[in-house]
Parts: sequence; C-alpha cells; structure tokens
Amino acid sequence: MKVKLVSGPPTTARTFKEPGELADKLSPEDVEIVREIFKTPLTGSYNWDYEVANSKIRRLYELGKKFNWDAQMDVDWEVDFDKSEGPSQAGLNPFHDHPVYLAMSEEKKNEYAWRSLAQVLSQFLHGEQGAMMVASQLVSCAPTYDAKLYAASQTFDEARHVEVFNKYLRFRCSVEYPVNPSLKLLLDKILTDERWDLKFIGMQVLIEGLALAAFQTMAQTTRDPLLRQILTLVMRDEGRHVAFGVNYLEDWIKALPEAEIEERAQFAYEACAIMRERLFSTIVEEEFGFDREEARRMSIDSQGGQAFRNFLFERMIPNLKRVGLLTESVKPKFEALGVLHYENAATDAEIDWASLERPLETGPIRQVAAE
Ligand SMILES: [Fe+2]
Ligand SMILES: [Fe+2]
Repeated sequence: MKVKLVSGPPTTARTFKEPGELADKLSPEDVEIVREIFKTPLTGSYNWDYEVANSKIRRLYELGKKFNWDAQMDVDWEVDFDKSEGPSQAGLNPFHDHPVYLAMSEEKKNEYAWRSLAQVLSQFLHGEQGAMMVASQLVSCAPTYDAKLYAASQTFDEARHVEVFNKYLRFRCSVEYPVNPSLKLLLDKILTDERWDLKFIGMQVLIEGLALAAFQTMAQTTRDPLLRQILTLVMRDEGRHVAFGVNYLEDWIKALPEAEIEERAQFAYEACAIMRERLFSTIVEEEFGFDREEARRMSIDSQGGQAFRNFLFERMIPNLKRVGLLTESVKPKFEALGVLHYENAATDAEIDWASLERPLETGPIRQVAAE
C-alpha cells in the first residue's frame, strides 16, 4: 500500500479507465492512499444516564435503523439508459446558446454534459465524506445519550452516501473532480471548530440543508433513472438529518448568552453567503474553453441555479429562525442577499413523519431476496 500525505486536496480531475471499473478490482499495490491531515480540539463526553430525554430524536433514530438501504441491494444498477442522449433534461444547459458551446461537435457537447454532471456529483461525494466525519465527531461531543445514538446512525447513513455517489461516479461518469475550495473551507471550519454546537449548526442545519437543496435540484433535472433512484434514497436519510438538527438545537441555542448566539448567527450568515455564490465549480467549463468567471456567473443565474437557491433558502431561512439564529443583527444581511422573505415558510421542526416513515422503494435484488 502506498500512502501519500498532501497539504491540500487535489486540483485536477481523476479519470477511471472503463465505465464501471471499480477500484476494488485493483490489487492493493495499485492503490495509492491520499491523505490530508486535519487536527481538531474535540471535547467529548460520556453520558451516564441512559434515559431517553427526547422522544422525537429517539423516533428518528429508530427510523434510521429501519431504513438502512443498501447501495448494492436496493439500487438497480442495470437499469436501461442511453448515455448518448446526455445526463440532464434538454434546455437546462446555461450555455446552450453560448458561442463556445455552439462550436462543439455533438459528441463533444455530450462529453461536456457528462463531465459537468460529474463535477457537481463530485461535490456531493466530498460533502458526504465531510458529513460522515462530522457525524462521527458528534457521537463523542453530543451532550445527550439520545443524540449520540442518533449521530452514530447518521454516521452510517453518510458512509452509505459516500459509497453510493462514489460508485455512481465511477460507473456512469468515469471521472471525479476535486472538491470546490469554498465547500472545503466550510467543511474545515466545521470539522476543526471546538464548539460542539457550532458543529451541529454547521452540519445539521447548514450543510444538510445545502445537500437537500442540491439533491432536490438534481432529482428534478436528471434524465437518468439510476441517479434518480439514488437521490430518492439519499434524500430520505437527509430529511431525517435536518429534522434532527432543527429539533435538537432549538433549546440549546436559546440557553446560550446573547453574545454567543450572535457569533453563531454570524457564522450561519457567512456560510449562507458562500453557499449562494461560491459553490459553483468551473474546472470543466475551463476544460471546454469557457471563461471561468463568465461560466460561474452564468451557472449562478441559470434556471438550475435559481431552482437550487429557492430550495436552499426556503428551508434554510425558516430553520435558522426556528433555532434562534435569525437575529436582528443578521436579518438585514439576509435581506441584502434577497432571501429574507422565506422567513415565515414551513420549518423542518414540524417533522413530516408520514413521509419519513413511508416504506422504501427498494430495488430488484432486495425484492428477489425477499420472495
Ligand atoms: Fe449525506
Ligand atoms: Fe446527512
């Protein structure tokens, strides 16, 4: 086994030889382990009282156990799909009438579309890795017994998300792109901050809200039934994760001194500002001859970009308000971002149990196994 220590994430794409050729087919000598070290001053706690303090959190934990889908068994990897028609619904490409795009051959346009999808899905993959590590930190630093159990089940959920996005990228796209620097910055902040509640806010409200918005946008725009299946399964889990965050944080944040609440409100605002503008990667666009800044701007202003922002802020803003982080001092800043009007939309504090408890739509292998 070769291990390479690096001081930051890769900056270039990685390609895989054949669609569907997975790393686990390689011999151990072929695999290079690339590690980037981070240090965190984690303050953990034991809990010596095993009583359930919060029945909602316990119920979410029970659902997590019950709906442990399996990326191998519950996803139909053999579903028919013609890659030559492109990964997304027609008409959504923000560059469809851009001269650089118009000058490409049909084959090149299709290749661009797949690479562009891989660029977005790679962010899902890297974000899921971050989520898995933060969830594992929450097991130690969550202050109550039921939250520790819940965080442990979430850690396993996130591991399955890493697995399934990694598999899809290799299976369908044959390429993986590096983490977006702004996403990496957010993950670094959450992973290395010593305050447990900041990790909770960062992961359970901000990153989980971001993930749900991105998955919803993707589920609506993809043509690939395989990707839609995957997103449906992943979103089921993420729905629980956000519900956990909002329900758990509300009481804890209220109990903090005002100055500490302000600090956290400011952090949430800064994260939202990054999510609104900075998470659009443009490595692929540059590869295909677009100007980086123009491509970024056009992606942000596109129909897909707008749909993403609506999904993002219509749940993020009411959730922040519910947990007490939409303070008077940050409200004008959110107003300037143009998203304060979501303030009174429905929050994830009212858990939609019916949708979280709905049976899973499982794939053919699981159905055969059950017969
Ligand atoms: Fe996840
Ligand atoms: Fe999650």
